[in-house]
Amino acid sequence: MVSTAKFARNILCIGAGYVGGPTMAMIAARCPQYKVTVVDINAARIAAWNSDALPIYEPGLLGVVKEARGRNLFFSTDIEAAIKDAEIIFVSVNTPTKTFGAGAGKAADLQYWEKTARMIKRVSTEPKIIVEKSTLPVRTAAAMSRILNANGNNIHFEVLSNPEFLAEGTAVEDMKNPDRVLIGAPDTPSGIKARDIMVEVYANWIPRDRILTSNVWSAELSKLVANAFLAQRISSINSISVLCEKTEADVAEVARSIGMDSRIGSRFLASSVGFGGSCFQKDILNLVYIAESYGLHEVASYWESVVLMNNYQKRRFVANMIAAMFNTVADKRIAVFGFAFKADTGDTRESPAIAVVRQLLDERARVVITDPEALDNAKTDLADCLDQVEMVSDPYMAAQGAHAIAICTEWQQYKVLDYKKIFDSMEKPACIFDGRNILDHEKLFAIGFNVFSIGKPARKHY
Ligand code: NAD
Ligand code: UDX
Repeated sequence: MVSTAKFARNILCIGAGYVGGPTMAMIAARCPQYKVTVVDINAARIAAWNSDALPIYEPGLLGVVKEARGRNLFFSTDIEAAIKDAEIIFVSVNTPTKTFGAGAGKAADLQYWEKTARMIKRVSTEPKIIVEKSTLPVRTAAAMSRILNANGNNIHFEVLSNPEFLAEGTAVEDMKNPDRVLIGAPDTPSGIKARDIMVEVYANWIPRDRILTSNVWSAELSKLVANAFLAQRISSINSISVLCEKTEADVAEVARSIGMDSRIGSRFLASSVGFGGSCFQKDILNLVYIAESYGLHEVASYWESVVLMNNYQKRRFVANMIAAMFNTVADKRIAVFGFAFKADTGDTRESPAIAVVRQLLDERARVVITDPEALDNAKTDLADCLDQVEMVSDPYMAAQGAHAIAICTEWQQYKVLDYKKIFDSMEKPACIFDGRNILDHEKLFAIGFNVFSIGKPARKHY
């Protein structure tokens, strides 16, 4: 292990995933005076972080990692030694939706988080600041503080909440220049001292007026609420997209008009096949569960409707495809362009493409999937039906002989393909279902495609 003596602070992160790896790489790159170690139980992931083939695809990330790796950034599987050594421990383990027992399907599964807390308690010989980086139910810090501080040897652990707001695909920019950093701390002398240390860490590159402090519960809850509000905007505009399709209004025009009202704002109003990603659905369902557990049923059902609308939007997309293709897609080759939950990531967690592909397979379509970064994850997601799908990295090959293309991810490269060449290689009538409204629909229609988008009138030659 590299000596800590020459570093001003010794920071550890437990969990080297989509959040732990990038956030710690950024702290290390911006703060060469700190030693930053990232550990994980997954040895393959750690090996990848120590190579040039990082375990996640994120634009700009390799440069940030390379700037600090080996200098003051270290990836390791020696969790116990790293805990002993650290003064500040970020915990960034996964907190997925529970799939079993009470709260299954909604509550957060806190087993990884609690195991980490117990390990910290068992191994530590000195006081430490424990920072919740994972997204957790409000008041988790109270439980964690109780577990950690029930150690009988008077070692004090100060538990803070520092939720992460980065979005995948733009993580590096989001971390370099965040709208805000939030640090929730107890209003006690030791809590305030720990909070000030955390403020000092971030102030190395973030202006002070963007570093917010609050009580721990507000910080924990703010993370769930931020995601709920963002997802709610998407479900709201998606609900209007259905109405647009019935009335010949255009959802992009509606979004532009309402978004120019500065009280509403223009971002997160892009109507789509539905939102995906590991956070939105999980965090809203967590919020719903918390509200229910306090008996706040109206609050719970208000937020649950955001997820229900999203499910409807995914189902509706495929239903529209089937209707447009003469009520059957059985034995028809359908090319799915994009499997990642958004562009510029290989992550496919809760990707709307998963729901689209599974629904098409239920209808006995012959599905071929293409994606520049997500095919490995797609193979895992569809492990139970791999014999029924084809995967190719070249979109031209995917489209060859297809009756339809379904755009499920807004990859830049799909905007600039030679659609005339693609049209010529397809079965006729050839359809494009643009689940992200990214293509030039007039141009496609002129080429000969029948074009179906989200929340816009269909352009059909038949
Ligand atoms: P992830 O699954 O990519 O990474 C979690 C890592 O923790 C895994 O590599 C896993 O092996 C490791 N781990 C689990 N238990 C461990 C243990 N006991 N000891 C050591 N390592 C352990 O998850 P993620 O996407 O990085 O998310 C982590 C947390 O951050 C979640 O709570 C999530 O809600 C939150 N979050 C995620 C994002 C995002 O964009 N992915 C953004 C903001 C917040
Ligand atoms: C989200 C939050 O944005 C981030 O702050 C939080 O830390 C983690 O969760 P992420 O899921 O990585 O980030 O990506 P995001 O850009 O929010 O997109 C989520 C989903 O919504 C994607 O499937 C995206 O395609 C979709 N989306 C987004 C829309 O359908 N329309 C939009 O206008 C914006």
